[in-house]
Amino acid sequence: MDKVRIGIVGIGNIGTAHANTLFGGKVEGAVLGAVCDISSDRREFAKENYLGVETFDDYNQMFASGLIDAVIVSTPHKLHCDIAMDALHAGLNVLVEKPVDITVSKAKAINELVKTTDKKFAIMFNQRTNDVFAKAREIVKSGALGELKRTVWIITNWYRTQRYYDSAGWRATWAGEGGGVLLNQAPHNLDLWQWICGMPIEVQANCEVGKYHNIEVEDDVTLLTRYENGATGMFVTSTGEFPGTNRLEISGTSGKIVVENGTLKWWKLPEDEREICFNATDLFPSIKCEYEEFVTQSKDGEAHKKIIQNYVNSILNGEELLSPGTDGIYELTLSNAAYLSSWKGGVPIKLPFDTQEFDTILGERQKNSKTNDPKENKNASGKYSKRWQVNW
Ligand SMILES: NC(=O)c1ccc[n+]([C@@H]2O[C@H](COP(=O)([O-])OP(=O)(O)OC[C@H]3O[C@@H](n4cnc5c(N)ncnc54)[C@H](O)[C@@H]3O)[C@@H](O)[C@H]2O)c1
Repeated sequence: MDKVRIGIVGIGNIGTAHANTLFGGKVEGAVLGAVCDISSDRREFAKENYLGVETFDDYNQMFASGLIDAVIVSTPHKLHCDIAMDALHAGLNVLVEKPVDITVSKAKAINELVKTTDKKFAIMFNQRTNDVFAKAREIVKSGALGELKRTVWIITNWYRTQRYYDSAGWRATWAGEGGGVLLNQAPHNLDLWQWICGMPIEVQANCEVGKYHNIEVEDDVTLLTRYENGATGMFVTSTGEFPGTNRLEISGTSGKIVVENGTLKWWKLPEDEREICFNATDLFPSIKCEYEEFVTQSKDGEAHKKIIQNYVNSILNGEELLSPGTDGIYELTLSNAAYLSSWKGGVPIKLPFDTQEFDTILGERQKNSKTNDPKENKNASGKYSKRWQVNW
């Protein structure tokens, strides 16, 4: 295969941006092979803008058409795994948008299926391409920060208006979207958090439903975690605060890093803090830290393309996936566990949690949900929006 022919399922906001990238020839070794959307508006748009590219209203027909080798799934979240699994069954490679789906049980099912195929399965965690987060990961994984003590991420610059929530019937409803800020905006940060610091063993959360908007899901969350070594974590996110903050702080026995405003600041202790604590003769020692700084070189607007390029390279020549689809289960475990904790009055949830209990409670919420899944989508801009960037 010289060129990977990619079919896109769902050419709404982000799917159109991916289609533009592929149709514009911006991904080496790939072409836009076909597109599919249930919305006639979007198919009309595609016919006018992607001349010569076949359009479909049924993704299974597109999968069987022989026109594509690989798929990008950019529909509402709750369809991601079903569509991706149908693509794998049809012998196609798949890249799904984040989150991998809305329940860990679905993520488990696709991860099992992936074991039985040689097709590539990737997920659009585009913020993994950002160099300061990669640097933070390298520092933590190398042990240079010592033993993890505490990690705190305040990510409240996901500001959204009521107009945003009203822009599509599936948004911010249990039945249509399956959650709020934890499932739509924060997956990037939850993924980076676990990618850098590892998975905790326990999650406790306070998810505030409709605190700042007329929505039936959460728009303000405080999440507390505990790691195997006893370290603690805190993750605060909201779509109702302005101006917001995006600050990740990781503290270890050998120092501290802070990522904020596109800069990673690294304080290195001369010796392990535990040694200092018990061997120092001073009551209040003044400890001189070595200091280093990394300023991001990552450019806005490149991140999604980099993930698609890596997916294509992986199909063509076996390049390692930067963001394997099977990793989608981790951040989803954190958000599902947060909901479960909140639904049960804020109790700590041990990981892995009871997915059956989660699915049952979510199912009850979905039964009473007010979603209306539209067949039309008039809001797609087709541009990689600023709101999808790292947004320091
Ligand atoms: N990685 C990122 O930075 C990023 C940014 C935006 C959105 N997303 C993700 O992309 C997904 C889509 O978000 P969006 O904002 O583009 O939504 P959207 O509503 O604008 O687009 C979704 C499209 O899917 C179509 N669709 C629905 N069901 C379908 C089906 N069965 N077959 C074919 N098409 C179908 C809809 O008609 C619509 O055009 C979400 O999961 C979201 O989390 C990721």
